[in-house]
Amino acid sequence: MRILPDVRPTDEQLKIIGDVKPGLRIIRGAAGSGKTTTALQCLSQLVVARLKRRQRLGHQAPVRVLVLTFNRTLEGYIAELAERSTPSSDALDLNISTFARWARTIVGDVNIAGRDQESAMLRPLLQPFVTSQQHDFFADEVAYILGRFTPQNRSEYLTVVRQGRGIAPRVDRPVREKLLQDVLPAYEEAKAKRGLIDWSDLAVLAADAQPDLRYDVVIVDETQDFSANQVRAITRHLQDSHNATFIIDAIQRIYPQYFTWREVGITARPEIIHTLKENYRNTKAIAAFALPLVDGLPMEDDGTLPDFTACSRSGIKPLIVAGKYSQQLQTMLDRLANITDFRTESIALLQPRGGGWFKEARNTLRARGIPYCELARENEWPSGPEVVALCTIHSAKGLEFDHVLLPGLSQQVTPHGPQDGDADLERLRRMLAMAIGRARKSVMIGYKPGEESSLVRLLDPSTYELVEV
Ligand SMILES: Nc1ncnc2c1ncn2[C@@H]1O[C@H](COP(=O)(O)OP(=O)(O)OP(=O)(O)O)[C@@H](O)[C@H]1O
Ligand SMILES: [Mg+2]
Repeated sequence: MRILPDVRPTDEQLKIIGDVKPGLRIIRGAAGSGKTTTALQCLSQLVVARLKRRQRLGHQAPVRVLVLTFNRTLEGYIAELAERSTPSSDALDLNISTFARWARTIVGDVNIAGRDQESAMLRPLLQPFVTSQQHDFFADEVAYILGRFTPQNRSEYLTVVRQGRGIAPRVDRPVREKLLQDVLPAYEEAKAKRGLIDWSDLAVLAADAQPDLRYDVVIVDETQDFSANQVRAITRHLQDSHNATFIIDAIQRIYPQYFTWREVGITARPEIIHTLKENYRNTKAIAAFALPLVDGLPMEDDGTLPDFTACSRSGIKPLIVAGKYSQQLQTMLDRLANITDFRTESIALLQPRGGGWFKEARNTLRARGIPYCELARENEWPSGPEVVALCTIHSAKGLEFDHVLLPGLSQQVTPHGPQDGDADLERLRRMLAMAIGRARKSVMIGYKPGEESSLVRLLDPSTYELVEV
């Protein structure tokens, strides 16, 4: 499967690449604006500058570089470009990793609770005051608290504006007190009893881990889905004179995380913020299709809406197929057969959830003799010749495909609360826009009439073609 290509930087990117002043900086921009590509191009400049400086000052320690990605698929997707853009030198120690893998190597031997174990521990603790439908929301709320506040500062949760979590359901002060005073201590106890830690604990432990790793250059991709404690852990391990780049688009956040730069000890002065404006990935038609999903959501400084005027290529209108799942897929594959040969251009078949949802897709692809591979969050990027990838929307974060198919977009797989400002609805809107934003050339969405996701209603009919089969 294809990876990120080498490109010739444009003027807006050259400005960022040429800036090798030590310090922290932030790269913002919409999906497809070349944030990851630009940061990787910076990497080679920074490494060369650092190697020269090391030689000049006669330092013995190697130049230490850390590139953190959100998941392993993304790590594999960019690793080759990252390696290609750095010189091979014994004086260079280059580590490309996910946060979780990096943190585990510095924290040592720990047993981390899986999401199911976390949920099983939390369920009885939440049960006295939330309904079973609200369980997932409050389990996310616990993750939000543990990710955003340091263990010493958790009481700040009582008064903070809960940005990034929608406005419904409301979480008033009595509920917050209950979470802090009853649920969290009992949850800590449940973990301790089982000899487990969770992902939030891992970040806190990584921030305290010895020795200080003193990285010279750090790049963090998809920072919007890192927790505050993860960012604190990263900045704790910087060399005094460092170059650290955080890539962020808050519009694409799909996990219950939020932090302000100030909270993580970073002063976001205008001179350290670089915003990329062009969209190199999507066609105008694709960006226009995605826009209504996220337009009107609470806007954050680090978020950038898809902008069709920033795209230079035109393309075919996105397609929505209404019909039974099998008919949706057949129609999509028939349409694709008119525009690609299934050998050269990449195709992603995305689903909001994994597991059994892919069964029919696998059978259909097999029956048509189309080879495919499966990408999962903890899988590496496949290096084989397949051009079709099955994956969850979460695992497609940061990746790019020529064609994106999203069959089976039913309300069942995109559940959310009834009110405006519902936290799940806002997350799903960002998630679907992010999924559409993976596409370079075409996008197709499918649903069964009567069972369609309410997200479909948010789309603007003038931006797509509807086919009923
Ligand atoms: N200067 C350029 N010229 C041509 N293509 C470019 C240029 N810069 C980036 N691209 C292409 O744009 C596409 C998107 O780039 P990239 O993945 O870096 O964007 P991104 O901002 O990180 O997107 P996302 O938010 O989805 O992660 C890639 O195909 C990349 O090769
Ligand atoms: Mg990217």
